[in-house]
Amino acid sequence: MDNPFLEDMLAGLQRQPKTLSSKYFYDKEGDKIFQEIMNMESYYLPSCELEIIEQKTEDIAKQIGSTELDVIELGAGDGVKTVKLIQGLLAAGKKVNYVPLDISPDVLETNKSNILKQLPQLSIEPIAGDYFKTMQKLSGRTKPKLILFLGSNIGNFKGQSGVDFLTLVKKHTTAEDYLLLGADLKKDPEIILKAYNDPEGITARFNLNLLHRMNKELNANFDLANFKHYPYYNPISGTCYSYLISLKDQKVEIADSTIFFQKNEPLHTEVSQKYSLQDLEELILAAGFNGIESFLDTKEWFSLSLIR
Ligand code: TRP
Repeated sequence: MDNPFLEDMLAGLQRQPKTLSSKYFYDKEGDKIFQEIMNMESYYLPSCELEIIEQKTEDIAKQIGSTELDVIELGAGDGVKTVKLIQGLLAAGKKVNYVPLDISPDVLETNKSNILKQLPQLSIEPIAGDYFKTMQKLSGRTKPKLILFLGSNIGNFKGQSGVDFLTLVKKHTTAEDYLLLGADLKKDPEIILKAYNDPEGITARFNLNLLHRMNKELNANFDLANFKHYPYYNPISGTCYSYLISLKDQKVEIADSTIFFQKNEPLHTEVSQKYSLQDLEELILAAGFNGIESFLDTKEWFSLSLIR
């Protein structure tokens, strides 16, 4: 078997409790629904982060010594926020070469055209692939790096794997490099829960699309009407969990395997970790970084942390 999507999905469906890897959300349809999420009133993360970028990039740039920078963006997305960040860096006198990394080639195309519309002179070197493979390509670069990991993507690593990921990032950096880490902060639990449970059902469609993708690409036969989206936030741990709940006893075929679901059985799809400033400090120290300075929006809902 040499289909990683199939292997990962089957392994997850045969586990107890059933868990699916969230990296497969982003097919063409998933990218589209995610854009809708990003535009939702209740999904406050992008607007908070954008506010920090617009208000604080000059301050951030002042903390960075070198003038020439390779700006390397992990999980680059559509680049709309990044344009503003790069404009801020340029305004602060930095010379920037932009390297967006993303798992989705489609998204990288959009990224490039969005960036070039506003910064036609910028040098861009997109790299498609998953974090672990693409990051290996960073070691050979000699210019000082500003590595961007925005949008609270860090929160989507399950358990210890967030520390492991940052440890890996640290391994690919030198003493003159910086990491700019976006992280969603702990806040009123109801505000957080609403971000993952919009009344229009956009988030539900996004979560269910993973089943739809298995139907299309893995010859599975999930009936989407037999599952519902269920998010849950634990304000002590700061973890928001997304599940799909089986609405009845059912069996589903996927490739040559049959998977049984019990009525009300949860299928875990995503974690979205929220942090206190102290949680962030502990996280980066655990990954081997030396220092952190966090820049917040006026509501103090989100943080962009500059890490050495
Ligand atoms: N992973 C992103 C986040 O945690 C995107 C997302 C928003 C998401 N809502 C979701 C992922 C629901 C899975 C299910 O913010």
